[in-house]
Amino acid sequence: EGVSTMTLKVNGTARTIQAEPRVSLLDALREYLDLTGTKKGCDHGQCGACTVLVEGRRINSCLTLAVMNQGKEITTIEGLAKGEELHPMQQAFLKHDGLQCGYCTPGQILSGVACVQEGHATTDDQVREWMSGNLCRCGAYPNIVAAVREVAG
Ligand code: FES
Repeated sequence: EGVSTMTLKVNGTARTIQAEPRVSLLDALREYLDLTGTKKGCDHGQCGACTVLVEGRRINSCLTLAVMNQGKEITTIEGLAKGEELHPMQQAFLKHDGLQCGYCTPGQILSGVACVQEGHATTDDQVREWMSGNLCRCGAYPNIVAAVREVAG
């Protein structure tokens, strides 16, 4: 299998890598671009730790090939803050203690951002349903729901 040149637009910057076409978006981010904020939990669509936004929609980056995402706007946890100022969802997670070990947190936060943006955060139940693909072994769910609900206003 040959190596391809591909260009990924991540957090507003075009980045070119040489990788086999079978490389997942998750591995491209972590291993080729050193963006290790995106976490690998299960590597097959079960845990949500690898959640990123592509064109504003959340996806499990372990389930999509990097090569399929060329030319699209990809947002990872590293791209959310504006300089020193954390994104409102990051601030809300801190305020509500929406984490313990933190491993699932980048995925939770990006899923939460999409939840609010797509209008699925009007009730606690709606948030729980939307966030159900993002597992948290520490059981921080009530605080995560509170954080997302606060950002939704
Ligand atoms: Fe992608 Fe678990 S690492 S869903």
